[in-house]
Amino acid sequence: MEHIAIIMDGNGRWAESRGLTRSDGHKAGADNISRIADAAREFGIKYLTLYAFSTENWKRPPAEVAFLMKLVSEITEGRLPDMMKNNVRLRTIGRTEDLPLPARKSLLKCIKETENNTGLTINIALSYGGRAEIVDAVNKIISEKGPGAKIDEKEFAKYLYAPDIPDPDLLIRTSGELRLSNFMLWELSYSEIYVTETHWPDFDKAEFQKALDSFGKRKRRFGGVVSETK
Ligand code: IPE
Ligand code: IPE
Ligand code: MG
Repeated sequence: MEHIAIIMDGNGRWAESRGLTRSDGHKAGADNISRIADAAREFGIKYLTLYAFSTENWKRPPAEVAFLMKLVSEITEGRLPDMMKNNVRLRTIGRTEDLPLPARKSLLKCIKETENNTGLTINIALSYGGRAEIVDAVNKIISEKGPGAKIDEKEFAKYLYAPDIPDPDLLIRTSGELRLSNFMLWELSYSEIYVTETHWPDFDKAEFQKALDSFGKRKRRFGGVVSETK
C-alpha cells in the first residue's frame, strides 16, 4: 500500500450537527489533517493525497472561499516545523495559480523547504478537478508535440500533475456520498474505494485503520482472473 487518496468531505454537516458554523467545521477539518498524516506515517504509507478544494468549490459563497483560503496559509506555514521534524514532504496538485497570493506564497515556501524530505509525501489537491487535469495535460501535449502527435496511455500519464506518484491503491471518502466529485478521474481507474458515514473532522486513526482492514480483504483483479485454488 503506497498511496491513499482521501476526499475529506462533511465539514459542513459535522458543524451543523453540533450547532456550529461551517467555518468551525472547516477549522476542525483542517486540524484533523495533521492527525491523519501522523497515522499515515505510522502505517508506513508513502503518499497521502488529500482533496481539499475542487474546481467546483469556487462556486461557494465568497466568505466561505476566503475562509478556506486563509486556512490553506495557516495549516501549511503553521505545520511547517512539524513537517520538518517528521520528514514530511508537501506537494500540491491542481490549478494552484488560481489561489490568492498569500495562500500561494505559503504553499510555495513549504513545498520548497520540504522538498528534500524523504518520509511521507502529503499531496494536497487545491483548485483541483479531474477534468481540468486531463484538459491541462492535453494542452501541454499539443503545445509540446504539435497537433498531429499520437500518444499512448503511458506517455499521456507523464503530462498529469504528479506523474511520478503511483496511482492511489485506495480512495477513502468521508461523509457518505457515493460519488467522485471530479477527483483524480484518470488515476483512480483501478483504485479500491472505501466510503464511511463518518464526517471528516471525526475521521480518526481507528477509522483509518478500518479502511485499511477493508482494503486488506479486497481481491484486486485489474480485469484479470484471480484463481482461488492456484
Ligand atoms: C469538505 O466539507 C470541505 C470542502 C469541500 C472544502 P464540506 O464543506 O463539503 O462539508 P459538507 O459536505 O457541506 O458537509
Ligand atoms: C468534494 O466535496 C471536494 C472536496 C472534499 C474538496 P464536495 O462537498 O465539494 O462534493 P459534492 O458537492 O458533494 O459533490
Ligand atoms: Mg461536501
